[in-house]
Amino acid sequence: MLAIPAQELTGELPDPPEFAALSEPTFVSISDILEYKALPEYHEPDWVTSKYVDAGTLPPVAERLPKEPMVYKTGNMPEGIGVYGDTMRHVIGGRPEGWNYIGGQSQGWGGIDIGLSECLTRTGPLFEVKADELEPMPNLAKSWEWSEDGHELTMHLIEGAKWSDGDAFDADDVMFFWNDNVNDPNVTPLNNATPETFGVGTTLEALDPYTIKWTFKDVRPTQYLYAMAYGSFCPGPSHILKPEHPKYKPSNTYEQYKNAFPPEYMNIPVMGAWVPVEYRPDDIIVMRRNPYYWKVDENGNQLPYLNEMHYRLSTWADRDVQAVAGSGDFSNLEQAESYVEALRRSAEDSAPARLQFGARTIGYALEMNLSANGWGEPDERAQRVRELNRNLDFRKAISIAVDRQRLGESLVRGPFTAIYPGGLYAGTAYYDKASTVYYPYNIEAAGALLDGIGLVDTDGNGIRNFPDGGPDVEITVLANTDYGTDTNLAEGVIAQMEPLGIRVIANFQSGTARDDMQQAGQFDWHVRRQGSEMVSVVQGTAQLAPTGPRTSFFHRGGTDGTVDVLPFEQELVDIVNKFISSSDNAERAELMKQYQHIYTENIYTVGLTQYPGALIINKRFANIPAGAPIFMFNWAEDNIIRERVFVPEDKQGDFELHPETLPGKPGGAGPV
Ligand code: GLA
Repeated sequence: MLAIPAQELTGELPDPPEFAALSEPTFVSISDILEYKALPEYHEPDWVTSKYVDAGTLPPVAERLPKEPMVYKTGNMPEGIGVYGDTMRHVIGGRPEGWNYIGGQSQGWGGIDIGLSECLTRTGPLFEVKADELEPMPNLAKSWEWSEDGHELTMHLIEGAKWSDGDAFDADDVMFFWNDNVNDPNVTPLNNATPETFGVGTTLEALDPYTIKWTFKDVRPTQYLYAMAYGSFCPGPSHILKPEHPKYKPSNTYEQYKNAFPPEYMNIPVMGAWVPVEYRPDDIIVMRRNPYYWKVDENGNQLPYLNEMHYRLSTWADRDVQAVAGSGDFSNLEQAESYVEALRRSAEDSAPARLQFGARTIGYALEMNLSANGWGEPDERAQRVRELNRNLDFRKAISIAVDRQRLGESLVRGPFTAIYPGGLYAGTAYYDKASTVYYPYNIEAAGALLDGIGLVDTDGNGIRNFPDGGPDVEITVLANTDYGTDTNLAEGVIAQMEPLGIRVIANFQSGTARDDMQQAGQFDWHVRRQGSEMVSVVQGTAQLAPTGPRTSFFHRGGTDGTVDVLPFEQELVDIVNKFISSSDNAERAELMKQYQHIYTENIYTVGLTQYPGALIINKRFANIPAGAPIFMFNWAEDNIIRERVFVPEDKQGDFELHPETLPGKPGGAGPV
């Protein structure tokens, strides 16, 4: 048997190809972007005053706003104070399951939930905040302070803000979210709102309607402020959701709670700038301006400037096509297969949209299910695969059987894709090349490694067998059919495993089904587009390792609720926990070097490819910040601060489907 010393498998990691299409943000302080204060007067679109306020069906704007609204500073708005009107026409590939976001339902992505949910803090726009001043922006929490001993964090909620139906937003909403959703194990959050996301043993209490107090085991874990942003701390309307929660309505099951607000349910109260008022299956979701939105510009104009938002229910590829053609307004160009064509069309003078590439923050990895203690209830075959997945030689063999250069080029030729060994992305703040272990393509060595662990083709059918006359090694790979890139990469992996004698079978599912199977642990392998933890590290930090039973994407608690972590995973968990509790920048950088080393040395995931994405926005929109990345702390739909975006009068289109209307009653028929 051939023994291969580990060092012979590693090699020099080529630098990513130069890619010079970046536009730089102008770096600012958070206090340059916004503040909270009362203004002498407030304004709203004329038709809101004449049709609703004057008719007595809506209180005057000053009464609808909080005592001290959030005020966006003119100096940070690229084109300054805007005007009202027009629509942003999004196109998305997902479909809404319903409106109970905190109960675990998806609205179809593409910026819908980002726009509906406002969270305690906000991180998307941090791409333009000076690196040495980096901390989450205030949002629903307008300020906070730490106790002397650093264990307590007191947060002040915005006072007098209202849900889009006029109901008060206060600590009741926050506590319902925390007690009855995050901390209720029967509720499966969509994103990462698990108790461990905020630290084991962390508690939260309401001191009064506008003051909440966190108590942490660690001292000054400022890192959790990032967990209070989009994804993990965006409360829902407790006055609407609570009556359907099984704790308050014992006749309801948790499934009934989750599904109590189907897509047809209109005017769900939100804290975001637009409210869903119309839904046509497989066609469109229309949203109208939230008359109670709690943010204004410095002239006292209530935001948003845009009256309407569309989410055309189509495909993600169509989002690119429509944005480039001008029949849609926005796309995150992220499926590398269409880059060349999109670039060509956008370069024409008559192109309706501008296309701006950012850094390489889109990346894919092959994740192996590492649970051997029952997560997802594997059958005998799947259990054997799990045992293989946990074997380092096996992961090495798979990794070096992947020709990453070819895989990247199969998506797009040119300076876009780069070899991705797994772990943190090259070019991001915490990446360190010297700490990155790279195992280059080496199909012969891959075969020898598999021979070494007893996986040989005993029945001569070209597929290796499990040891001792076991069956063929057959492994399924989960991928999301909503994206061509996901399935193309998975097809590439399937093809590249063939010469190795491993039979990989496509388990390709729609986005929603994929999400469910991932959450439930029903997969052997999964080709997945990575999250912001791999880009920013500070966002989604708890997901960098199995820090809790539900934090990892590919290794969650088994039947007894515990995670059967491998020794190197325990090291990763310890590093991540240390990172979270440290506020010493030098120490944090050092910890992430260790993380990267252990991660890549152990091939925690099989990195596939990483490449830049481009933001495509129709040229009629103003106030799009320079250098807004499609993905960093969050997606571009958050990064560009849509509530501040406007269309100058002479460029306004005639796209509003429900002009001069406002959202109606929750559960009512539509706009009024
Ligand atoms: C999907 C899209 C992304 C982005 C996000 C926002 O994942 O692929 O480009 O729009 O939704 O949630």
